[in-house]
Amino acid sequence: MEEIKIFAPATVANLSCGFDVLGCCLQNVGDEMLVRKNDLKEIRITKITGADLPLQIDRNVAGVAVQALMARLGSRQGFNIEIDKKIRSGSGIGSSAASAAGAVYAVNKLLDEPFTNNELIEFAMQGELLASGNAHADNVAPALLGGFSLVRSYDPLEILSLPAPPEVRMVILHPMIEIKTRDSRAIIKQNVTLSSAIAQWGNLGAFVSALYTSDYALMGRSLHDAIVEPVRSILIPYFDELKLLAMNHAALGFGISGSGPSVFAMCKGDSVAEKVQGVFADFLKDKKMGYELHVSEINKTGIRIL
Ligand code: HSE
Repeated sequence: MEEIKIFAPATVANLSCGFDVLGCCLQNVGDEMLVRKNDLKEIRITKITGADLPLQIDRNVAGVAVQALMARLGSRQGFNIEIDKKIRSGSGIGSSAASAAGAVYAVNKLLDEPFTNNELIEFAMQGELLASGNAHADNVAPALLGGFSLVRSYDPLEILSLPAPPEVRMVILHPMIEIKTRDSRAIIKQNVTLSSAIAQWGNLGAFVSALYTSDYALMGRSLHDAIVEPVRSILIPYFDELKLLAMNHAALGFGISGSGPSVFAMCKGDSVAEKVQGVFADFLKDKKMGYELHVSEINKTGIRIL
């Protein structure tokens, strides 16, 4: 194979109870990438549409991720990478992760798959390091693996795939402001109290159990964030009002998607999700804030070939 075109999906990281360790993959929003072998022994980003991002491979998340993969292989095969960005940068739904994960996925396929998708995660994390100053895996893992992913450990890296209950729907609201992950990480407190840690690991364990048993009510009871949300939510317009609306209309939970500004309402089934989407749209009608709003199923397969 000389050339491959892929779809690299958006993702929601943290999911309230799992800061930096939990994420899920979305269905219809994502970037498209075209990767072709070249004879130049060079990794080149030849074209980017849909966003103003650097073409230099050391400054582009796709470039650094592919360089990490090629360095591990000790191969000097060259590639031309074209990226059509559909996920906005700084939106909180894994824009940098999609580019980095998509690039390593495509290159791996063109090399006849020397790595599993799980093994590609650590290369894609180099893109996150460039983008945010921190090599978190909670967006790149679900982008590569689909469904829900849990980072059991960063050192050594161990990522688990979790089941996706069939009726989970994610209502994603993206207020048209940009929050850089680097900035929203900088405001998080570095220490947590024992009582909030207890609350958090209880909720995370219960959420994982609920995914295995498709216990939607337990999912709902577990979607709380005592640590990061109180600090970050002040950056997001109408956060408290939107949360109240979602919870009053039967959402299982509501929280910040990754580092924001997008927020998510996790719902059981299409009718609740559409209702929540509708009340968000009604609420925002007379507010002077641009936004995008959509409902997604959980994407069980992650990145796919087009
Ligand atoms: N876990 C990361 C954060 C995800 O919240 O900073 C960034 O998308």
